[in-house]
Amino acid sequence: MATVARLFETMEYGPAPESDAPALEWIKQHDNGRFGHFINGRWIAPAEGQYFETINPATKAVLARVAQGSNADVDTAVAAANAAAPVWAGLTPHARARYLYALAREVQRHARLLAVLESLDNGKPIRETRDLDIPLVARHFYHHAGWAQLRDTEFPGYAPVGVVGQIIPWNFPLLMVAWKVAPALAAGNTVIMKPAEFTPLTALCFAEIAQAAGLPTGVFNVVTGDGATGKALVEHPDVQKIAFTGSTEVGRVIRKATAGSGKKLTLELGGKSPFIVFEDADLDSVVEGVVDAIWFNQGQVCCAGSRLLVQEGVADKLTQKLRARMEKLRVGSPLDKAVDMGAIVAPVQLDRIRGLVEQGVEEGAKMWQPSWACPIEGYFYPPTLFTDVSPAATIAQVEIFGPVLVSMTFRTPKEAVELANNTPYGLAASVWSENINLALDVAPKLKAGVVWINSTNLFDAAAGFGGYRESGFGREGGREGMWEYLKAEWEGGNAERGTRNIVAESDAPVPRSDFRVPSSGALPPIDRTYKLFIAGKQARPDQGYSRKIIAPDGRVLGEVAEANRKDVRNAVEAAHAAEGWGRGSGHMRAQILYYIAENLATRADEFAARVGRQEVEASIARLFTYAAWADKWDGAVHHTPIRGVTLAMNEPVGVLGIAAPDEVPLLGFISLMAPAIAVGNTVIVIPSEPHPLAATEFYSVLETSDVPDGVINVLTGAKDALAKVLAEHDDVEGMWYFGAAAGVKAVELASASNMKRTWATARSRDWLDARQGEGREFLRRASEVKNIWIPYGE
Ligand code: NAI
Repeated sequence: MATVARLFETMEYGPAPESDAPALEWIKQHDNGRFGHFINGRWIAPAEGQYFETINPATKAVLARVAQGSNADVDTAVAAANAAAPVWAGLTPHARARYLYALAREVQRHARLLAVLESLDNGKPIRETRDLDIPLVARHFYHHAGWAQLRDTEFPGYAPVGVVGQIIPWNFPLLMVAWKVAPALAAGNTVIMKPAEFTPLTALCFAEIAQAAGLPTGVFNVVTGDGATGKALVEHPDVQKIAFTGSTEVGRVIRKATAGSGKKLTLELGGKSPFIVFEDADLDSVVEGVVDAIWFNQGQVCCAGSRLLVQEGVADKLTQKLRARMEKLRVGSPLDKAVDMGAIVAPVQLDRIRGLVEQGVEEGAKMWQPSWACPIEGYFYPPTLFTDVSPAATIAQVEIFGPVLVSMTFRTPKEAVELANNTPYGLAASVWSENINLALDVAPKLKAGVVWINSTNLFDAAAGFGGYRESGFGREGGREGMWEYLKAEWEGGNAERGTRNIVAESDAPVPRSDFRVPSSGALPPIDRTYKLFIAGKQARPDQGYSRKIIAPDGRVLGEVAEANRKDVRNAVEAAHAAEGWGRGSGHMRAQILYYIAENLATRADEFAARVGRQEVEASIARLFTYAAWADKWDGAVHHTPIRGVTLAMNEPVGVLGIAAPDEVPLLGFISLMAPAIAVGNTVIVIPSEPHPLAATEFYSVLETSDVPDGVINVLTGAKDALAKVLAEHDDVEGMWYFGAAAGVKAVELASASNMKRTWATARSRDWLDARQGEGREFLRRASEVKNIWIPYGE
């Protein structure tokens, strides 16, 4: 029998269970635990009559049966969302804000039910759902009630995208609903949500909450089911945007499935985030940070700090401290308020974790687990630490998505950065040091969308969240997140219908044709063959081929080099070698853009003879626009609820491939090249295929404008073929394509190789109109936003 004196001695925990009765009662009230889809404000039985079970992973008990969504169910939901779209979009911003505010209030009112339901369905500790997940859900709706209110003043000229399909994972089921639904509704879209098959219950409960908040029917719909249901939603022709969070593997499938469809796409994918500890870090704080980084939510967190990188001098000491702390962690019933870690979501996930841990041991790393055993009635797994891990080991590269930490050591800050970036992912990173100079020097060098200084896993609705590289593209939260659910009003309907094509008279598109001899009597033109422009020099194409450029009257205007794969490789190498451009000052980039404009102005007559006066003047003005922007494309300091600052920094994407439009050959080339380099990217531009001469003439302008070698590279030749090679290239971080629909599709498909961000469109725009041809849209496309969280205070 426990006496107070003995308890005082041992400091044992007593059980502190949260009651599951109200949540189980809520389930029972729904057809005795059988749920249909929630479409158009009603529960609807699945068309094919199929249901699947959702279980409590801590007990293996069946919680409920849930509808398996078929194509027909997805059709019904899309039709409902489509019908509701004009109604919802037609409301005033204030009216939408009132609904979002009501959603936040209703979430708070039902916080306990939601927290318990989430713990039951997912296996995560009630302490986390009660104190983190659900409060963040409410916060997200409050914050976005604000964006709804401000939409027309803060995003003038923008409209909702339309019907949005959202597909989410099982690790933060309701939080992911909030991250996706709040901005979508605030922007004026209607939604079909497909929750993960392991954790559908809180999304269904939220549907009812939305109904209680009076949300018009059809604005928010839930279709449950597995990957096949998700696929049907992705492929539905009446869905205008897909927002996905989940594995990189499925993200890649979705990128391919939507290629060429014109659908907007955001992907928030996996990670293998570094947790970097420098020698001077406060190691006791580091230990608590690690607990939060990798054992929060059993490590099933996309931005989990799963790679511990420790400076050599403190590695052993930290390992000792970590083992002592791990020994004291408590794994057990998620509803016990004194438990640190709950259950793994499902047997398949548990098997995956076990398999990867076994592989780690086989590959020679040293594995350590606490001495105590996990409960056996559910899917539990103990906190696990690997040391002596080689950076090339499977467990150092692959996302384990479980409570498994792999640790490696480094000597210098440079080595730490190299090791940190040695992954195809780029979601998040933590940096621990008492030297703020060091921490702030390292943060911008990390390829990650979020960097936490002396902290980890901080989230807020006001700060964007999202990745670089294979961690996906797009941001959720804050102003950046709102852009993902809006489109420019001038784009009009959803069909690829553009505005007037502006085509310079003297250089109108002509079908490619064979060489024609100049009319007799005329003097033969001077044979001029333009080379490629690589690393600041005019370079002969690899194979020495060129193509003739023919005027509408049949005259040969000149010849341009025919670039091939090898030339693309050379250009990419040159662009990478020039990456210091992005680290230089905005002022310096502005000076060079002004200088390019000045040199173009000096030769304005010559260019006017080729493309017309109006286009040349517009090109000079555009260069001025981006020279102006180069030192003004500021980031932000977000109002997040921490004592400290959250900096949103605009960084260049990296090496950008650009296939310029065929209309307005000079202005199109400059309108894309200039914003890209203003932000600090280095570029490989493919000019208009039928009219490349304005760009090849431009080489000499570049040569006299102090542009560092490799910042701007130009490849002439077959536009679509070259664009595809660039889109496939692993060392190209982004690809812009303005051209034919087939080219858009090819670029989007090829981009899936390294999940590079693309901006590919067959929609023509009026490049002479400043609203369409220049401005923030271009700068946003040229930037990655990195959020750096810097708590301060002793
Ligand atoms: P998943 O990526 O397969 O599932 C996420 C969502 O996508 C679910 O709603 C699923 O039904 C849906 N889905 C699956 N296939 C689809 C398709 N072809 N088209 C459209 N939707 C589809 O993730 P899963 O299988 O649950 O977990 C597998 C691994 O993925 C985990 O071990 C973990 O490594 C990683 N993962 C990463 C997450 C993250 O937040 N980064 C979240 C969940 C899993």
